[in-house]
Amino acid sequence: MLITFEGIDGSGKSTQISLLKNELQEQGYSVYVFREPGGTDLSEMIRGILLNPEIDIDPVTEVLLFSSARSQLIAEKVKPLLDNNDVVILDRFYDSTTAYQGYGRQSLAIDQIHQINKAATHGVKPDVTFYLRLSPQVAAERTKHFEKDRMELSGETFFERVYNGFEQLAKNEERFKTINAEKSIEEIHQDILNFVKEFLS
Ligand code: ADP
Ligand code: TYD
Repeated sequence: MLITFEGIDGSGKSTQISLLKNELQEQGYSVYVFREPGGTDLSEMIRGILLNPEIDIDPVTEVLLFSSARSQLIAEKVKPLLDNNDVVILDRFYDSTTAYQGYGRQSLAIDQIHQINKAATHGVKPDVTFYLRLSPQVAAERTKHFEKDRMELSGETFFERVYNGFEQLAKNEERFKTINAEKSIEEIHQDILNFVKEFLS
């Protein structure tokens, strides 16, 4: 089973993934978590380039670098685990490229982004995507003391467009489960767990 988490920076993805992973492991599932970009030696190197505020990256190059990191992760790690019936949780997947590069950067037409996403994912699709919906203003408040990476330095209007991109995806994609990320950590965890339990049974 492939579970993905999406949402803007600071929406609570890592917090919820860690809780879900522990719970599923306690129930006896073998669970693997990867973050995007990252998760393999090569993908982590590409992550270092993508998030470094000192490197200027052309917007189309940016799409291709996120996609290269993804292609390697899926081929090297995710596909073999799914073939083995393990549970894989991804902290971001190709919906982030649609939202950040497609809607946020507007670097290519959404249609072209979908084509690149298709190539980079080797045919792998999430069974369910938890979209942690949080306004950019609340997310910014939660993360105001964190050091900012290259993407997070993209500005308020960029994050408004990214948020709208996720909203668009939530409307169009059946697999998107929208979660109110303003609730408490424990309430959100229970919302997610209820859905996953239903799915796994
Ligand atoms: P993301 O992985 O989406 O960037 P994090 O899980 O790192 O988000 O959370 C960002 C910050 O918000 C962290 O300081 C975290 O402790 C806090 N946080 C996470 N979930 C909640 C919540 N439901 N309510 C309030 N603060 C939260
Ligand atoms: P990360 O720290 O993993 O995200 P978060 O702050 O939500 O915990 O940083 C990854 C950054 O890269 C984040 O700003 C989202 C961005 N990103 C894209 O722009 N496109 C993509 O395809 C992916 C996977 C991430």
